[in-house]
Amino acid sequence: MNSGQIIRRIGKSDVSASAVGLGTWAIGGWMWGGTDEQASIGAIHASIDAGVSLIDTAPAYGLGRSEEIVGKAIKGRRDKVMIATKCGLNWQTGKGNYFFDQDGLPVHRYLGADGITHEVEQSLRRLGTDHIDLYITHWQDPTTPIAETMEALASLKKAGKIRAIGASNISVAELESYVAAGQIDAIQERYSMLDREIEQTLLPVTTANDVATLSYSSLALGLLSGAIDPARQFTGDDQRKDNPRFSEANRHKVAAFKAAIAPVIDQHGATMAQIAIAWTLTQPGITFGLCGARNAEQALDNAKAGRIVLDADDLALIDAAITRHLVAMDA
Ligand SMILES: NC(=O)c1ccc[n+]([C@@H]2O[C@H](COP(=O)([O-])OP(=O)(O)OC[C@H]3O[C@@H](n4cnc5c(N)ncnc54)[C@H](OP(=O)(O)O)[C@@H]3O)[C@@H](O)[C@H]2O)c1
Repeated sequence: MNSGQIIRRIGKSDVSASAVGLGTWAIGGWMWGGTDEQASIGAIHASIDAGVSLIDTAPAYGLGRSEEIVGKAIKGRRDKVMIATKCGLNWQTGKGNYFFDQDGLPVHRYLGADGITHEVEQSLRRLGTDHIDLYITHWQDPTTPIAETMEALASLKKAGKIRAIGASNISVAELESYVAAGQIDAIQERYSMLDREIEQTLLPVTTANDVATLSYSSLALGLLSGAIDPARQFTGDDQRKDNPRFSEANRHKVAAFKAAIAPVIDQHGATMAQIAIAWTLTQPGITFGLCGARNAEQALDNAKAGRIVLDADDLALIDAAITRHLVAMDA
């Protein structure tokens, strides 16, 4: 069945997937005020049923919890999805560069060959699969040369354990080192209507080298969903609780933006989240848009964005509204 989703290739690899991808950070619970396993599995199933074939996860999302939930959800459906997961945030050996604590455990950035070889087996086990379609270095490790990391990743690829290589949270210099060291197929970076720095830095380099870009936090942690009104409270370890980006003033600016793009929302019978995602996917150099979802309703909402085609008039109206209401946001 044709799901109507836009399908794109991951760099020079032989892996293709839907341009809208499901992100599963919140599904791991950590920094999102906890998780509900059944609702999370519902989100993954709804995404797959709507033709979303890219699922992004990481060991760090709840110290294995997100990967385990993805593993449960894709049982019997492995052939319908491309799995992206990550390496380099290690809470087991203490090697590398200290980064943060999670659940009382120190997590280090470590991309040495021994760490990667160990981590990939843990991820394959948690995901219940024999291969990872896109394997991404999560954060960069100042203690290991990128050439060593790339050599380890290339041997995993040769062994058939991974199919494509990516890097996340990188500088232009680091991206150039990856390109020089072998075949890098993707980067994963923060990008949305509110976070556009990479347009000037990384995207010219990815475009010149046929490297795909997966945007993360494409809905600005939910702020661009249009569903966060001034009354919404964040609880527990939800990172948005003390984030100045979620100030009441900013919520009002987003509401004004939503009102300004109402003609586009109405014309497409869409939600604001869908327009934010569809806009992201039209931006030059952005190949995939990762969107988190905590339940089937959000997942389906986001999946439908992959079928919306914004024309030049829509984009002109949206861009004017971004300049008017979002560019001057305080954080
Ligand atoms: N490489 C990295 O370092 C890195 C960093 C960040 C993210 N990522 C990846 O990128 C993915 C996406 O980013 P993200 O999850 O950080 O943020 P996001 O996609 O900008 O926002 C996700 C949150 O927005 C809310 N939401 C989503 N869809 C909605 C809808 N249709 N209607 C209303 N609310 C909706 C949900 O939270 P509530 O319901 O609680 O409001 C959801 O958890 C992650 O899951 C992860 O896979 C990678």
